This record gives sequence, structure tokens and C-alpha cells, in this order.
Amino acid sequence: MSRYLLALLLPVVMIGCTPPEKVKYERYRVAGERLYQQYCANCHMMDGSGFQKLYPPISGTNWIIDNYEETFCLIKNGMNEPLTINGETYTLSMSGTKLTPLEIAEIATFMYNSWGFEKGLIDVAEAEAILDDCE
Ligand code: HEC
Repeated sequence: MSRYLLALLLPVVMIGCTPPEKVKYERYRVAGERLYQQYCANCHMMDGSGFQKLYPPISGTNWIIDNYEETFCLIKNGMNEPLTINGETYTLSMSGTKLTPLEIAEIATFMYNSWGFEKGLIDVAEAEAILDDCE
């Protein structure tokens, strides 16, 4: 009987004990997915595959890994230089946004933990520090 009770209680206890960092990560990722859908998916698609020869893919390439700081800066300030990804050159420019550092951290947490990337939480403090250094 007591073992039965334990089996019932264990999941409850485990949820209660979810580390705060994990809760924060989930909160960021979910908010980031919503923001990405709203501000980015029109061009880059929900699966990050981009759109034909107009909008570059974010998934299926390591660009955001190799250009970590620049990724934050371009979400803020946009980008206006030809870009070659997976052998395809993209010449359109991307406008900047009025997103807050927290929103950018949330979008980053979503992107860097989707499509095979597994970077974990990107905290607002980290995003703020990077954004302060953007040109
Ligand atoms: C109107 C279409 C459009 C929207 C909306 C848009 N982008 Fe872009 N994005 C582009 C274009 C075009 C480029 C290439 C810019 C260049 O070559 O100068 C680009 C480049 C990028 C790159 C670098 C290359 C790559 O594919 O990895 C990243 C990362 C990126 N965008 C992320 C985002 C994020 C995050 C958002 C939402 C906050 C967003 N974009 C919204 C059109 C868009």
C-alpha cells in the first residue's frame, strides 16, 4: 500500500523539485517560440528553413553558432550585406526590430535549442551584455 502511495506521489514530488533554472529555460523557450512565430517565421519559416532564394535558412547551417554575437546584433539592428549560406547567396537586407533584450534572449533561447541546436538557456543578462557591444 505504501509503495503504491509512493508511486502516486513521486511524479508530484518530481515536478515540485524541478530546478528553477529548468523552469526559466522552459519559460524563455516557450515565449521565444511565440515571438519567433510573430517576428521571424514570415521569412525564415517556423522550421528555420528560409524561403527560396530570398530568405536564408537558420536551420541546417551553423551560421548562428559561428556568428554568435552577430546573431543578437542583427536581430536588433538588422543586416545589410550579401550572405552566402550553403552555397546560396542572399542579397536582400533584413530590418532591425524594436524587441527588448529579454525578448531577444527568449528568441535566442528558442533558436539555439531548435533544429538540432542544444545550447540551453540564454539569459537576458547575457543578451544585454552582447547587445551593448553591437556597433
Ligand atoms: C522580412 C523578412 C525577414 C524577417 C521578418 C526576418 N528576417 Fe532574418 N534575414 C532576412 C534576410 C533577407 C537575411 C539576409 C540579410 C543579409 O544578407 O544582409 C536575414 C538574415 C538572418 C540571419 C543570418 C543568416 C542565417 O540565416 O542564419 C539570422 C540569424 C536571422 N536573419 C534571424 C532572424 C530572426 C531571429 C528574425 C526575427 C526576430 C528575423 N531574422 C526576421 C529576412 C528576414
